[in-house]
Amino acid sequence: MTRAGERVALVSGAGRGIGVFIAKELAQQGWQLSLGMRKPQAPAWAEPNSVHVETYDASDTEAEMRWVANALDRFGRIDAIVANAGIMIPKTVIEADDADLDAMLSVNVKAPRRLAKAAWPSLVASRRGRFIILASLSGKRVKSAKAGLYSMSKFAAVALAHGIRQAGFDQGIRATAVCPGFVATDMAVAITDRPAELMTDPADLARIIAMLLDLPNEASVAEFAVNCQLEEFF
Ligand SMILES: NC(=O)c1ccc[n+]([C@@H]2O[C@H](COP(=O)([O-])OP(=O)(O)OC[C@H]3O[C@@H](n4cnc5c(N)ncnc54)[C@H](OP(=O)(O)O)[C@@H]3O)[C@@H](O)[C@H]2O)c1
Repeated sequence: MTRAGERVALVSGAGRGIGVFIAKELAQQGWQLSLGMRKPQAPAWAEPNSVHVETYDASDTEAEMRWVANALDRFGRIDAIVANAGIMIPKTVIEADDADLDAMLSVNVKAPRRLAKAAWPSLVASRRGRFIILASLSGKRVKSAKAGLYSMSKFAAVALAHGIRQAGFDQGIRATAVCPGFVATDMAVAITDRPAELMTDPADLARIIAMLLDLPNEASVAEFAVNCQLEEFF
C-alpha cells in the first residue's frame, strides 16, 4: 500500500501555479485527489479518470458545499483540505478600496473557511483530518507598503489555520498555515524583479506540504515558514 493509502485530499486552485505541484506530489504519494479549478480540465500528468476534477470558484459561496458533496459521491471520504487558491492585489492599505479588500478576503480567507466547514464531518470521521492553507510570509510580517492589503488577508489566513486547529484538535484534526516567501509562479513573477530561479521552487513547497499532511496527530505543526532569501526572522 502507498503511504497515503486510501486517503482523499481536496486541493483548490489546482489548475496552475503551486496547486499543480501539490496535486502531482500528493498523487505520487498515493493520495486520492479531488481538484478544484475555475476552469476544470483533467490534468495532463494524471491517468485518465484517476483524479476527480470539480468546477470551483471561491467567489461562489455555495461552491464548497457542492464540491464536498461531489467528492464524497466519488470517494466516500475526505481526509485533507489544501486551501491553495489565492489572489494578490498589490496595493497599499491607503490606495486600496473596500472592493479590493473584499476580493482578497473572499478568496484567501472566507472560501477556505467555508471549505473546512463543509468538509468538517468528514475530517472528523477521518480521525486524522488535515487542513492546510497556503498563507504566506505576508501573514507573518508586512514586507512593503504594496504588500499591506494582501498581508491583511494572509494574517487572517494564518488565524484561520489556528482557529481550525483549536476547533478540531480533540477530534484529530490538525491545521497548518504554510507561509512561503516568493515562490516561482505567475503570482510572484508579477510583483518582483527577483529572478524565478532565486525563488522557492513550487515542487519543493509541494514536498513540504505532502510531509505536513503525512505527519501523525502527535506531530502537529501550526505554522511552517519557508523563505528563498534572508530576512530577520524568516
Ligand atoms: N507565489 C508566491 O510567491 C506565493 C507566496 C506565498 C503564498 N502564496 C500563496 O500560494 C497560493 C497559490 O499561489 P500561486 O503562486 O500558485 O498563484 P498563481 O500562480 O497566481 O495561482 C493562483 C491559483 O489560485 C486560483 N484562484 C484564484 N482565484 C480563484 C477563485 N476565485 N476561485 C478559485 N480559484 C482561484 C487560480 O486559478 P485560475 O487559474 O482560475 O486563475 C490559480 O490556480 C495562493 O494562496 C498564494 O497567495 C504564493
